Amino acid sequence: ATIHDQILERGDGGELHQFAEDGQPILTTAQGGPVADDQNSLRIGARGPLLIDDFHFREKIFHFDHERIPERVVHARGYGAHGFFETYESLAAYTKADLFQRAGEKTPVFVRFSTVAGSKGSFDLARDVRGFAVKIYTKEGNWDLVGNNIPVFFIQDAIKFPDVIHAVKPEPDRAFPQAQSAHDNFWDFISLTPESMHMIMWVMSDRAIPRSFRFMEGFGVHTFRFVNTKDESTFVKFHWKPKLGLQSVAWNEAVKINGADPDFHRRDLWQSIQSGNFPEWELQVQLFDQDFADNFEFDVLDPTKIIPEEILPPQPVGRLVLDRMPDNFFAETEQVAFMTQNVPPGIDFSNDPLLQGRNFSYLDTQLKRLGGPNFTHLPINAPKCPFAHFQQDGHMAMRNPAGRVNYQPNSWGEGPRESPTNGHRPFASEEQGEKVRLRPESFADHYSQARQFYISQTPPEQRHIAAALTFELSKVQTPVIRERMVSHLMNIDQTLASTVAQKLGFQSMPEPAEAAVPTRHDLEPSPALSIVER
Ligand code: HEM
Repeated sequence: ATIHDQILERGDGGELHQFAEDGQPILTTAQGGPVADDQNSLRIGARGPLLIDDFHFREKIFHFDHERIPERVVHARGYGAHGFFETYESLAAYTKADLFQRAGEKTPVFVRFSTVAGSKGSFDLARDVRGFAVKIYTKEGNWDLVGNNIPVFFIQDAIKFPDVIHAVKPEPDRAFPQAQSAHDNFWDFISLTPESMHMIMWVMSDRAIPRSFRFMEGFGVHTFRFVNTKDESTFVKFHWKPKLGLQSVAWNEAVKINGADPDFHRRDLWQSIQSGNFPEWELQVQLFDQDFADNFEFDVLDPTKIIPEEILPPQPVGRLVLDRMPDNFFAETEQVAFMTQNVPPGIDFSNDPLLQGRNFSYLDTQLKRLGGPNFTHLPINAPKCPFAHFQQDGHMAMRNPAGRVNYQPNSWGEGPRESPTNGHRPFASEEQGEKVRLRPESFADHYSQARQFYISQTPPEQRHIAAALTFELSKVQTPVIRERMVSHLMNIDQTLASTVAQKLGFQSMPEPAEAAVPTRHDLEPSPALSIVER
């Protein structure tokens, strides 16, 4: 609604008084009081001190003083758009999720793309992972598929998340630099964290400098579950495939663009949608059962591994179209609250320890960032289906329970009821055992898929990876960190390791890093992983 409409909506005849002669609304205070003079504050005499009874001045400055909210602790810089998800055909055999039941059904969505490490005001073309967060307003509640443009992650356990993020963000004493160029803390952490090697190959590749949001893939990363009406579960991995294909910029292009236009990606999305050129992605799913999981050569609960697409071809199940920019960046893109734990009936979690940790973190962080427990009252976060619960009060409560009853069971026959048949019921976990702090042995191979990714790249892409590693490590001041990184690269690809070592001026090669389990050299390059044909 425009300001004009809002004023009309509020009016009960009074609006006649709140319009100027030219039909524009009269400027008012937030309390609705008409303002006579917005140019001069109230003072004693023309050159005297200001007066505290200038309530318009005080209200105006007070509100301005409080315009900022904390930026997201990660993914602070982002850009969003509205659109819809259209289901191709019923997936009822696998999931009871309502949005997947009827071919052709369109469900509204909001998507926010982001960089991870930079602050809210950083530039768009940093070498970084891109967030690809999708909020789908289904008829049975919001489903947030909070993904990235890279299908794996740095760490295997959410307890390491603060460490990887502290290491990548500005160093505490000097407060620079961010992801654009390397720094010792980041490479120190990475070199001490072999599980990050697969992700590092992706981050050093052209994937980490996309040409635009419209040319990026998106991945749910974790293994999730579909659950059908018979309570049968199928494992699922989610992939968004851009209709325009994948494209990246080269590093020297990225550096120039960042200088010339730090808003390059957001401008691109704005212009394409405003000109009716709606970007589109296909949702593809990799579906598999427990038997496949038991026989697959890596653990499907390990978020540092993919299931190669030629082993398990993804199936297209729908499309996502972005066709409308937000009316207000702050109200929508800044205040949108994605949370991995938002899943409708028919979609469930796996025991991936990174996913399980995320399910705690997002709710917790929104409470702080959005200033209280009522952020679902904001239109961008509210479900678009009917909803009813007994939550009440708290800061900015706008949807308190109506009537007498705010608890259940009650004797008055009022209020919402549980629904044992429709409600979300967690899929039964068969895990048993002692309480332990342990990584499964099946998570121990940190190099094979890193190698598989590297050898799947075309020669120019491989050169870009070597150049990126050389550039980044050349900024590292501490020799032992460089050596440790090269010793990891030796387990990934000998030529890559020696190219980087040579360019960094190594006199001799270090010993390869000790691998927890032998690296597999029998894995074929994965053509489905290859990016741009250049
Ligand atoms: C924000 C993706 C791992 C905590 C985000 C956003 C994305 C994302 C896309 C931005 C959401 C937006 O646009 O508003 C991922 C992916 C992960 C991952 C794909 C791994 C596969 C984690 C982990 C944690 C975490 C392990 C914590 C244990 C957060 C927090 C935010 C965030 C606190 C800020 C949320 C906000 O303020 O709105 N993540 N993340 N993430 N993520 Fe993650």
